[in-house]
Amino acid sequence: MALDPLRDGHGRSIGDLRVSVTDRCNFRCQYCMPAEGLRWLEREQILTFEEITRLVALLSSMGVHDVRLTGGEPLVRRGFPRLAAMLADLPDVRELSVTTNGFLLERDAEALVRAGIDRFNVSVDSLQRDRFYQLTRRDALPQVLRGLERLASFPEAHPIKINAVAIRGFTEEEVLPFVQLARRTPYEVRFIEFMPLDGDRAWSEESVLTGAEIRALVQAVHPLEPCGREPHATARVYRFADGPGKIGFINPVSEPFCADCNRIRLTAEGRLRTCLFSLHETDLRSPLRAGASDAELERIIRQAVWRKELKHHVGEPGFIQPARTMSAIGG
Ligand code: 5AD
Ligand code: SF4
Repeated sequence: MALDPLRDGHGRSIGDLRVSVTDRCNFRCQYCMPAEGLRWLEREQILTFEEITRLVALLSSMGVHDVRLTGGEPLVRRGFPRLAAMLADLPDVRELSVTTNGFLLERDAEALVRAGIDRFNVSVDSLQRDRFYQLTRRDALPQVLRGLERLASFPEAHPIKINAVAIRGFTEEEVLPFVQLARRTPYEVRFIEFMPLDGDRAWSEESVLTGAEIRALVQAVHPLEPCGREPHATARVYRFADGPGKIGFINPVSEPFCADCNRIRLTAEGRLRTCLFSLHETDLRSPLRAGASDAELERIIRQAVWRKELKHHVGEPGFIQPARTMSAIGG
């Protein structure tokens, strides 16, 4: 049954949900987790597949038609393809996508495509094995590239996107190898500006390599032409004027897209977050487990979303980094 669209108090309709299905991860990316890992949630704290499906069904009937599954690393959650299939079956879920580090894709790509995942984003920050190891603290580049190849063998999974976090002093060297990859494979490469969501709290404004700077590095070698922008798209995408391939820039720090943000997030333990940088979150698990009706859950959700933050304050004086890292929020 279609319910009224979900809106916030600033006139934005919410159409996109990120669901973190686990806080655990098999990598320790420097821009996300500390080397020693984090304290994982206990099993009972994590929403069950049935609980996730109930919340996604309710939200999608309020117009939240795009659902992305994240973690931590979503593929480490046992039975993950079964959850994907349960969500793909919901009538109001129009696009179901996954963000993964790719390590388990060689094993799971087929099951996930069959389950009905429409789109995949794979995080790869370096195309050199030793530098990949330095950044993710796992010597896993060959495994990730095998996973990508496996995924690419399914035409339904295309277009496949590769995300690279852009960090000053690291990513400059990676730009041209990624450009070559984008030109000779069907992968669309997108650079994401480093955000203050790291466990090490090493972020500073100077550590962000901006999209404009990377674009200048690319333009010096290959002319770029802007592609049209879809509504609510966070990436600015360009095609190469002198050959095939596309490259994109997600610039949350240097060019915030908050005014157009249509997103909310659900953490693995069932808390609703209305911004990546929220300092407040809304517990949905307790009412869910206390037997709340859909109408009661709907009221709690609408109230929380009404107070969605107008914008983030990254880079402004007084900015407070949330206690959660990206792995505990769900990218
Ligand atoms: N800044 C920007 N992107 C990040 N990601 C994780 N941490 C950060 C951060 N601090 C990205 C990952 C992945 C997605 C889940 O979020 O690279 O693509
Ligand atoms: Fe794991 Fe993704 Fe965080 Fe890397 S960025 S540690 S792959 S959750």
